[in-house]
Amino acid sequence: MKKVKKYYIICKNGERRYRDKIYKIGKMAVIIDGKSLAKKTRENLKIECEKLKDKGIIPKLAVIMVGDDPASKVYVRNKSKACDEIGVKYEEYILKDSITQKELIDLIHKLNEDKTVNGILLQSPIPNHLDIDEAFREISSEKDVDGFNPVNIGKLLLNQDTFVSCTPYGIMKMFEEYNIDLEGKNLVIIGRSNIVGKPLMACCLNNHATVTVCHSRTKGLKEKTKNADILIAAIGKSKFVTADMVKEGAVVIDVGINRGEDKKLTGDVDFEEVKKKASYITPVPGGVGPMTIAMLMNNVIKATINQNK
Ligand code: GUN
Repeated sequence: MKKVKKYYIICKNGERRYRDKIYKIGKMAVIIDGKSLAKKTRENLKIECEKLKDKGIIPKLAVIMVGDDPASKVYVRNKSKACDEIGVKYEEYILKDSITQKELIDLIHKLNEDKTVNGILLQSPIPNHLDIDEAFREISSEKDVDGFNPVNIGKLLLNQDTFVSCTPYGIMKMFEEYNIDLEGKNLVIIGRSNIVGKPLMACCLNNHATVTVCHSRTKGLKEKTKNADILIAAIGKSKFVTADMVKEGAVVIDVGINRGEDKKLTGDVDFEEVKKKASYITPVPGGVGPMTIAMLMNNVIKATINQNK
């Protein structure tokens, strides 16, 4: 039998989280449990939602989806389930692929005007003939629970109160929960998407990390990732980050959700190998994904409270 010694870290809420140190094999990373943190977050939001209901206010999220992208269908279903659990009303607008830009913008304007709707989310991707930038711009910044409106992105860059995009926000909550301090750390993000990489860069900078954003044209990627105290992968390529790219003791966050031919979900990180080297790591599934939806719910409640002040 292997000799296993229990180590633990103390989380913000005083809870102890154990990790196993297995002699001879070496240290193993703490697995950041996004699933249970998301559950706890949703439970707290349910209480907030009940308080609003006592005042006669029922939060409502309107979700627009264009076409029938299979991955989007799954994301949208999960958002609807979270709304049901918390007590947020959920309204879905499934639009045909053939919809015109004007029809899409008219719907957004109608939802902006509707006082019973507190949050609006346009699920991406949308078909290429539509202009998603214009669509995000037209969502009222007060109902922009995804934080994709340029006004809210600008506020985030300026470190002002705003709706923080849900995936970066979820990652920040995980750092907070596990007492991972960003101040002065070399933090490398792989991926520069508008949805994850760019807002995440702003969040990390606002928390005093020294941030490097890498992308498909970055030269000497491995040199940069090997220097990262905190490495965040948001590329969309299964097991792209291998152990040789990771510094000993680094914190590794995996934003990827890739479905292989066998339908199995994998992240952007080679979890089994990298966990032997990292100090903390997020799994896929059960890491960043559930936190994204929990933070969307957080933003819907925040929008509702702001609109009823
Ligand atoms: N597509 C993939 N992730 C997201 C997200 O967080 N929000 C929206 N609107 N679309 C997405």
